[in-house]
Amino acid sequence: MPKLSARALSLQESAIRKLDAVAMARTEVRFHRLNIGQPDLPTPAPMMDAIANFRPPLLAYGPSSGTPACRAAAAAWHAQSCPGLGPLDVAITTGGSEALLFALLAVCDPGDEIIVPEPFYTNYNGFCTAAGVRVVPLRTELSDGFGPPSAAALDAVRTDRTRALLFSNPGNPTGAVWTADQVGGVLEWAVQRDLFVIADEVYRQIWFGQPAPTALAFDFAKEHVLAVDSMSKTWAACGLRLGLLICRNRAVMERVERLGQARLGPQPLAQAAGEAAFALPERYYAELRATWGARVDALHAGVAAIPGVRTHKPMGAFYLMASLPVADTEAFARFLVERFEDNGESVMLAPGPGFFGDPANGRDLVRLAAVYEPERLGRAATLLGAALQAFAAAGG
Ligand SMILES: Cc1ncc(COP(=O)(O)O)c(C=O)c1O
Repeated sequence: MPKLSARALSLQESAIRKLDAVAMARTEVRFHRLNIGQPDLPTPAPMMDAIANFRPPLLAYGPSSGTPACRAAAAAWHAQSCPGLGPLDVAITTGGSEALLFALLAVCDPGDEIIVPEPFYTNYNGFCTAAGVRVVPLRTELSDGFGPPSAAALDAVRTDRTRALLFSNPGNPTGAVWTADQVGGVLEWAVQRDLFVIADEVYRQIWFGQPAPTALAFDFAKEHVLAVDSMSKTWAACGLRLGLLICRNRAVMERVERLGQARLGPQPLAQAAGEAAFALPERYYAELRATWGARVDALHAGVAAIPGVRTHKPMGAFYLMASLPVADTEAFARFLVERFEDNGESVMLAPGPGFFGDPANGRDLVRLAAVYEPERLGRAATLLGAALQAFAAAGG
């Protein structure tokens, strides 16, 4: 057999999807799938209508950085929080995932390093491996709500190869929302050292206390910030595969345009739905926050009440992390899928190690996604408590 690349061989298997096959085979059990961040809310009707009404005579290629109409709509929408933003500052991509990959490819060479506060969105590992970039994880702690690392901590891991800092705010998997002061502090650190900042803001509209700030709004960092947005979460359209890379540094965007040219262009059909998304009234976002807020509250209340569990109140996105009284949450996740059931029900969760640079870390942690109605999340939390007891009794 011809030799595979070291890059391909070093790709990690998705921690979240690993147990799916086992769960699917156990057809007699109803699983509450808190392991995947797939919103169950309906995609807004105007987006569906735009798809139904999309009837060009030919499914042609579109422009590499997006159709003029979608770029303009995206820029106008983001200009509400970053005044002056124009269509040339926005590239439309195939999901936030491609925006992240383009951002990495635009600012890093193979062998370069990128600092990523951990726990972090597990696919950053995959994008960085594909780009030949080394992830340098930097720990943030449950005990302080996963706040940002200090300048001293960032300096301690910076090397000559450091090119950028990458974080998601609101955080997946943490549910933390860094305040404007905190984001400003991190940007100041990066600008003083002339490093880029890749701000993954795909959950920015989903916050429950203070609005989540955008890193784009800090004028002093306008040459340094690349922000990522996506239709997947805020607009409940994971399958649309539409994202945005936004940056006010023209030199960066010229290179992003060339990366886009190499893959021709994002889907015009998806962009028609995107235009409809950006035209939704403000009330849509308020309702979205109310829905997710009630769910996250229900999940948090249920999980926080389980003896021996430590957790924190998520302030955004729709995840929470919890420390469980077990030595190895991978073994516990397997137990839930393979052996546990109560009244024909069980729970799926994402074990912590998948969110860390070194999978030896985070072994007491799990990520839970609040992707159901509050009552069902309450039931899932009750099952989790019962499963922890059964796991302990089984010698786990
Ligand atoms: C933090 C974060 N960034 C990016 C993505 C990828 O988004 P998309 O579906 O737009 O590729 C996700 C998806 O779960 C995510 O949680």
